Amino acid sequence: MNKKMTITSIQKTKGVRPLVMITAYDALFAKLLEPSSDMILVGDSLNMSFAGKSDTLSATMEQMMYHTKAVCSGAKNSFVVCDMPFGTYVNKEDALANAIRVFQETSADCVKIEGGEDKADIIEHLTSNAIAVCGHIGLLPQSVRSEGGYKVKGKTEKERLQLIEDAKAVEKAGAFCMVIEGVKAEVAFEVAKSVDIPVIGIGAGAGVDGQVLVFSDMLGLFEEFTPKFVKKYMDGAALVKDAIKNYADEVKMREFPKEEHTY
Ligand code: KIV
Repeated sequence: MNKKMTITSIQKTKGVRPLVMITAYDALFAKLLEPSSDMILVGDSLNMSFAGKSDTLSATMEQMMYHTKAVCSGAKNSFVVCDMPFGTYVNKEDALANAIRVFQETSADCVKIEGGEDKADIIEHLTSNAIAVCGHIGLLPQSVRSEGGYKVKGKTEKERLQLIEDAKAVEKAGAFCMVIEGVKAEVAFEVAKSVDIPVIGIGAGAGVDGQVLVFSDMLGLFEEFTPKFVKKYMDGAALVKDAIKNYADEVKMREFPKEEHTY
């Protein structure tokens, strides 16, 4: 069994080896991912792939708590990150109350907050109250409606400089690592170099300190859309549909159950 990662061992990977982070939303998949991942993220992307919504904005604390508890039960030896859903960290008091709830009611190891310089005061309030925080900069899925879509960042000099400021502010506020999403690879590389904590990329190229993918994307289970940065490691949807069709055909033809499946 792999040794469970800690904030210290995660930070020590910087400059040594890339970190592997994958999302999971339930105990079943968490257990399957555990042997190959350093960190499991209970992302609010579950609102799309599991709850069938068109974005992450309606995810609630209740949903995140339920799925985080399930992941922690399935992967007891994993470092688990719980995403703070939209609207639950708009001010320091709410952020702390909600993050304390995560720490008291689940065994998640940290929370994740979307935002850079603009969220530094909130991150600082959490970290100074014993809440471990993973930052999230660049393309922020919780800002999809206010930004009018999912926009890749780092295309202009202004955005490049802001991303570096964001990373530095998140680090200074006490976050032990951060996710960087949807950023031009050369800018993400520069951002990662500008801080001493690991910067884990999704759609941010190969030059950062680790990678994170949504498990239902990488397993080809989520069919609605596939972002450019996703590599499908299997065609899960086709495999599942084939298996279900086989079962249905066998039931209809009375080929299942056979003697060996019968008491
Ligand atoms: O919710 C999520 O799965 C995430 C990843 C996209 C990093 O935040």
